[in-house]
Amino acid sequence: MADNKFLIEEQYKLLFNQINSLINNENPLITNLSNIVAAINQSFDKISWIGFYFAKNDQLFLGPFQGKVACTRIEFGRGVCGTAVATKLSQVVPDVHEFPGHIICDADSNSEIVIPILVNNEIFGVLDLDSTKFSAFTTIDQLWLEKICNLLTEKLNFKKNILT
Ligand code: SME
Repeated sequence: MADNKFLIEEQYKLLFNQINSLINNENPLITNLSNIVAAINQSFDKISWIGFYFAKNDQLFLGPFQGKVACTRIEFGRGVCGTAVATKLSQVVPDVHEFPGHIICDADSNSEIVIPILVNNEIFGVLDLDSTKFSAFTTIDQLWLEKICNLLTEKLNFKKNILT
């Protein structure tokens, strides 16, 4: 598995291409996103939890994920996910125990990265990844996960009514 910068970049290039070829617009959005979290999860051993949360009425609701049972709803502005929504900026957290208001879903999680998913500059949701390792995610992960989220919003038909 990828264990240095060069290998991580190569792994992300393969992953990006894999996601690009997995996307099938004849399938519902939730079907595409379910396989995409699996593809990312399979690419990196350091991931202990990965999933999408979708925005509705100033809250985030749990979407397709891989990992342990998780929080089902998060208020905008709360925790790492809610902060990514409030700021519209990716959050790279090397030690979640140091992050004010961090929401503990898995007590074994030590670091986290959250990428906001923006459609026409409006929050659609977030992509959240956790690790049991400290400082598991770097600016390389941020860059590539942002590229992947941009690919998703360019190629998939994101609709506000995914949550009913
Ligand atoms: N830790 C997150 C909550 C979601 S779980 O990690 C799956 C947060 O602080 O927003």
